[in-house]
Amino acid sequence: MTTKSVEAESAQIPGGNTVLVEFEDGIAWVTMNRPEKRNAMSPMLAAEMVQVMNALEIDTRCKVLVLTGAGNSFSAGMDLKEFFRQTDQMSPPEREQIVRTNAQWQWRQLMFYPKPTIAMVNGWCFGGAFTPLVSCDLAIAAEEATFGLSEINWGIIPAGVVTKAVAQVMSQRDALYYIMTGETFDGRKAAAMNLVNEAVPLTDLRRRTRELAMTLIGKNPTVLRAAKTAYRRVRDMSYDDANDYLMAKNDQARLFDPEQGREQGLRQFLDEKSFRPGLGGYKRDG
Ligand code: COA
Repeated sequence: MTTKSVEAESAQIPGGNTVLVEFEDGIAWVTMNRPEKRNAMSPMLAAEMVQVMNALEIDTRCKVLVLTGAGNSFSAGMDLKEFFRQTDQMSPPEREQIVRTNAQWQWRQLMFYPKPTIAMVNGWCFGGAFTPLVSCDLAIAAEEATFGLSEINWGIIPAGVVTKAVAQVMSQRDALYYIMTGETFDGRKAAAMNLVNEAVPLTDLRRRTRELAMTLIGKNPTVLRAAKTAYRRVRDMSYDDANDYLMAKNDQARLFDPEQGREQGLRQFLDEKSFRPGLGGYKRDG
């Protein structure tokens, strides 16, 4: 392949059907795009999302990934027709493949994504949509958004890994309340329960999400990647194992950090006295 065709390929935008990608100042806005179905997640959307996430992982135009939905919905959860009813007719291997592709993007890939991820919940968020929501590192919701663990309302339990995911971020009382009642709640309540970091008026949602993304883009990406991966890994480790893992992870980040952030930080604070680490980051091109 010639250099020219490599450049042309890298300039392509991944997705384009059930998933849209828009690049802006280092942010990849990744939009679930089935607004007529309230962005219910179909097998096709899952397959396209895996491709998009693979592409963005190595695309330098993406420094932060923001996951959101087209129209007035984040996602109405798993597609009841295409993911449930139609797969009932399939052979077990066919069905397992669809389930695996879905799990691939919603948590296997997203939870340990090498770049920071933010869920921007712009509207309806039901059932299966809680999995990618919790898999994202951070989440901002519109105050007006409507959430619900609606599975009980149509005769199933929050499966896939939905129950596991909500147990990571919500208290037992809150999780069981909404799992058992199927009641809806809004963005403010989601923030009060720590399901999302914060809720803002819908009119301010994109601005605030962009602001948060730019804060993350300002940080050392190698260290950011190690920090978020380490958090996910150590949760289920003993103190001894966590201590060993974190020291090794820290050494790994230091060894592979092209900007040698630790050295820059120490020099700028101790020698140059040009910043205070407690109050902000070191000057990265300094
Ligand atoms: N799976 C499949 N199709 C869905 C869907 C889902 N999860 N959510 C919405 N749709 C479809 C509807 O069937 C309808 O399709 P149609 O136009 O071909 O009839 C279309 O999207 C619009 O849905 P509608 O219910 O008319 O929109 P609404 O704005 O009045 O209500 C919701 C929006 C999200 C409250 C409602 O669609 C709903 O309850 N969806 C199911 C949510 C759910 O329980 N998800 C959990 C799955 S685990």
